[in-house]
Amino acid sequence: MDDEVISLFPLGTERSASGHLMIAGHDLAQLAKTWGTPLYVFDAGTVRNQVNKIKQLLTQYYAGPNEITYAAKSYFSLGAARHMAEMGLGVDVVSLAEMSIARKAGFDADKVHLHGNNKSEEELLAALDWGIHAVVVDSLDELLFFEKLAEKRKKKARIWLRVTPGIEVDTHPDIQTGHLTSKFGFLLSDGQAAEGIRRAQASPWFDLVGLHAHLGSQLFEAEPYLDTIEMLLSLADRSHFLPIEICPGGGWGVRYTLEDSTESPELWVKTVGKTVSEQFARRGWPLPKLVLEPGRYIAAQAGVSIYTVGTTKVVSDGTTVVAVDGGMADNIRPAIYGSKYSLLLVNRPASGTQRRTSIVGKFCESGDILISNAQLPEMHRDDVVAMPASGAYQLAMSSNYNMAPRPTVLWLTPGNVEMLQKRETLDAGGWWMGA
Ligand code: LLP
Repeated sequence: MDDEVISLFPLGTERSASGHLMIAGHDLAQLAKTWGTPLYVFDAGTVRNQVNKIKQLLTQYYAGPNEITYAAKSYFSLGAARHMAEMGLGVDVVSLAEMSIARKAGFDADKVHLHGNNKSEEELLAALDWGIHAVVVDSLDELLFFEKLAEKRKKKARIWLRVTPGIEVDTHPDIQTGHLTSKFGFLLSDGQAAEGIRRAQASPWFDLVGLHAHLGSQLFEAEPYLDTIEMLLSLADRSHFLPIEICPGGGWGVRYTLEDSTESPELWVKTVGKTVSEQFARRGWPLPKLVLEPGRYIAAQAGVSIYTVGTTKVVSDGTTVVAVDGGMADNIRPAIYGSKYSLLLVNRPASGTQRRTSIVGKFCESGDILISNAQLPEMHRDDVVAMPASGAYQLAMSSNYNMAPRPTVLWLTPGNVEMLQKRETLDAGGWWMGA
């Protein structure tokens, strides 16, 4: 079992001769001892590998200009942002804080996009003042609001419009975004998107350069991307608008368990690259800049969450319940999406018979279950365990439930450990202290 599950971890993860799990040459049991648990680690090599894979696929399947824009919402911190900027990525930000961190980390303004369905005046003005590449306008209401701000600042804004194609994708309903009732984007079917283009083009305060759509997350099918691009292009055509940039979003999935799809991102990039090429060539339009916006694909596999086992018990149906020292405060995904995860022992290889086991957190809520009813080896107090594919949307959605401190986060390269996030403490100055 170890051998197979190891493939879900960062590239090159292995067991040492003494049976410890190793990432980039670092002994996870030792890291747990030094830094305490819960502990999150990112393998730099895996992040770089994922980025390079998409870069190489874009070069292979798309002849026009392209850009990979990292979805900061999947995981962001100053250190991580610096590494992402150094890798030549652009960044999709959705808040003033993400924008400020991107700026501090050294991202070029020209590689930043601001998303969101309800951007504040402060956020829109910050985007204008920094001169980011594009604000992705989400609705007619926002278009008019932003136009007033641009006029007030006497600054023309470069924008994209986010279009909602009305396509349902095969993923958890809460992480679909391109369906008819989505809160995101200009709906295509009722003419909102066409009206948005018309008004944006008519405004002296906007330079409309592109169209955007994002269908959802953790996707393994390419057809919805193909349909979306066709719909965006036929909308542009009907609106007499020649986009010089096009972005079919992010969304490509990763493996959390051995049951998950093994479909590679080649299918995604190939489909998108070919469809954009064909659709533009058919109209005799020059190839646009193709922007892909992956978050999970870049961050998930590189990240690992590490916990220490505390209490174990057997409940009335015979399930063994193993409690770890983290849970829903650092990983809310199983509780809200029913997401499935895998686990390996860090301090020794699995041995003995497997039994039906649930891995639960330490928080005061029955739904605080990280893994439900899986066949797992026997575990005891002080065993250290690791869960793969923890890099995206865990720390990013973490909370202080039960006043839990957010964990330490490390960035591992061979021979070096960099702290990306310091474990929160109850020192003076925390938000819980009031003024
Ligand atoms: N672009 C836009 C406009 C997005 O809204 C998102 C994600 C992405 C790109 C990146 O999608 P990705 O490549 O990471 O799938 N909390 C959920 C995921 C929410 C995704 C939100 N938007 C989860 O834990 O599964």
